[in-house]
Amino acid sequence: MDSIQRGPFFVCFGEICCVLGFLTLKCPLENHGVCGQDSVIQCTLKSSHQHVRVMGLVWRKLGSSFPLISYMGGRLRQTGRFQLLERGWDERNANVSLAVRDTRVADQGLYQCAVLTEYGNAKLIASLRVTAKYRELRVTSIPESNIQEDSTVLMLCTAHGGYPEGTMKWFDQYGTDWTRSAEMQAMEVEEGFFNLTSRFSVWRASSVSPRYRCVLFNGSGAEEDKVEIHLKFSIPVIVVLGSLTSGLLVLTLFQKSECRGPGWYSEVVLLTLDRVCATGPLSKYSIFPLSFH
Ligand SMILES: *[C@@H]1O[C@H](CO)[C@@H](O)[C@H](O)[C@H]1NC(C)=O
Ligand SMILES: *[C@@H]1O[C@H](CO)[C@@H](O)[C@H](O)[C@H]1NC(C)=O
Ligand SMILES: *[C@@H]1O[C@H](CO)[C@@H](O)[C@H](O)[C@H]1NC(C)=O
Repeated sequence: MDSIQRGPFFVCFGEICCVLGFLTLKCPLENHGVCGQDSVIQCTLKSSHQHVRVMGLVWRKLGSSFPLISYMGGRLRQTGRFQLLERGWDERNANVSLAVRDTRVADQGLYQCAVLTEYGNAKLIASLRVTAKYRELRVTSIPESNIQEDSTVLMLCTAHGGYPEGTMKWFDQYGTDWTRSAEMQAMEVEEGFFNLTSRFSVWRASSVSPRYRCVLFNGSGAEEDKVEIHLKFSIPVIVVLGSLTSGLLVLTLFQKSECRGPGWYSEVVLLTLDRVCATGPLSKYSIFPLSFH
């Protein structure tokens, strides 16, 4: 979107007005910058006159009293990270674009450009929106491993250094949205960035559905990143009893930490492997479960 700030100039003598020409600043009203990179507000002075000479130029950020850039009486003053995009700019140059080097969150806001020429002046306000991608999206669980069936597991999803405030959502491996059971916290840290943490508790975790996904959405609601966790349940102890002529006999004891009901209880699974040098996942081979109660 462009804006024409100054229409044709009229000079009126009584009721008779004459059009003298026009002087306008053309800049996109909405601009986007990325933290750590250079941002630009492209602005060009347009005029019906040939060879317009800039007599005065001021770029300021609304809400701040000092001009970022000024050109007065033939002297150009630029401050720190704020410069004219055109290197070696001079008063004959209609390209008065602003460059913000190494953009920061605090640079977000409204910028005003004002130009004075021998044909009149032009003024325009354009906005700069700043974004920063979140970094190191991670998901961890407490406990981290050796999770028992039906126990409570807390999952934490974290990301940091983003802007503006984003959101996190939780899904299980079937795509069910569990976000309403989670609690997210956005903490504003140094330089206006946000650290995000979302806590999600599963009351009765099951090794049948050990996978969960944390999805990060940026400030405009677009998916920015995702990370998956595979909960580590307690691993069964494998005991090799001995070798048979046609295969191996493997005894697997799934130990339960909790005693359910009266008396000791465990499940014994007997596996026979068809070949001596078996490779690949065990699921390829026949499994004969036996239970002793
Ligand atoms: C203004 O100058 C910059 C840097 O030389 C250039 O990249 C940009 O295209 C120019 N803008 C216009 C509208 O000419
Ligand atoms: C934000 O997260 C980063 C990375 O984990 C950490 O170094 C920093 O201390 C956090 N800031 C606050 C205020 O918690
Ligand atoms: C969010 O991501 C979309 C797509 O990548 C991007 O166009 C938009 O500018 C981003 N918004 C923010 C606030 O980061």
